[in-house]
Amino acid sequence: MAYTFKIQRFNPDKDKRAHYEEYKVELEQTDRVLDGLNEIKWRQDGTLTYRRSCAHGVCGSDAMRINGRNRLACKVLIKDLPEKITIEPMLGFTVIKDLVVDLEPFFEKYRSIVPYLVNDDPPGETERLQSPEDRAKYDDGTKCILCAACTTSCPPFWANKEFVGPAAIVNAHRFIFDTRDQGADERLAVLNTRNGVWRCRTVFNCTDACPRDIEITRAIEDVKRTLLYGKQ
Ligand code: SF4
Ligand code: F3S
Ligand code: FES
Repeated sequence: MAYTFKIQRFNPDKDKRAHYEEYKVELEQTDRVLDGLNEIKWRQDGTLTYRRSCAHGVCGSDAMRINGRNRLACKVLIKDLPEKITIEPMLGFTVIKDLVVDLEPFFEKYRSIVPYLVNDDPPGETERLQSPEDRAKYDDGTKCILCAACTTSCPPFWANKEFVGPAAIVNAHRFIFDTRDQGADERLAVLNTRNGVWRCRTVFNCTDACPRDIEITRAIEDVKRTLLYGKQ
């Protein structure tokens, strides 16, 4: 079946501003949007630029706006879309070329929340044990693939790029509620600021955009509650 891909293009070497180009592609109902992009790049226009790697929803590199919503191109089935598909880069970051945005500010926020286990106790004879109930407290956040779909769908982030953003908060939550970790105070200090969790207005776009179905807004509320009342 024939589909029309309307793709936002921008080449910094020759374009003053972004524009759209349309491509016709023959696709099966079982194909994904990424198959359509590959078809265009490999057979029609090799200059089309986008990130992708695993093609199976694991690496997080092909998040983009598909008909206005942040999605992973490798997870969206063609059969779930109309015959005309508009593809644009995620909002809120500088476009480097076509669908590729500069994610360095995103990873800078991620690094600011100390995204690794902090524990200065000397290693014991065995693993640092944890009950299944304690493990469950932060399980959701371990599914994050750092695709940035949440942060770039958040209106407070569009309005203020200093907002740490939902992805960084989810990853802070993952360690704050890990019983083996000792770095919660450092992370909570970063989040207890005007550009930390308090910039979140509970819009829920982030939760809707997450390809891993992480309950992002709930995680943000957990952190806010912890800042107000201490760890429960
Ligand atoms: Fe992507 Fe979800 Fe992680 Fe946000 S929380 S970066 S949407 S996987
Ligand atoms: Fe933004 Fe998500 Fe909060 S969309 S306002 S971080 S609930
Ligand atoms: Fe890896 Fe889509 S290409 S998540």
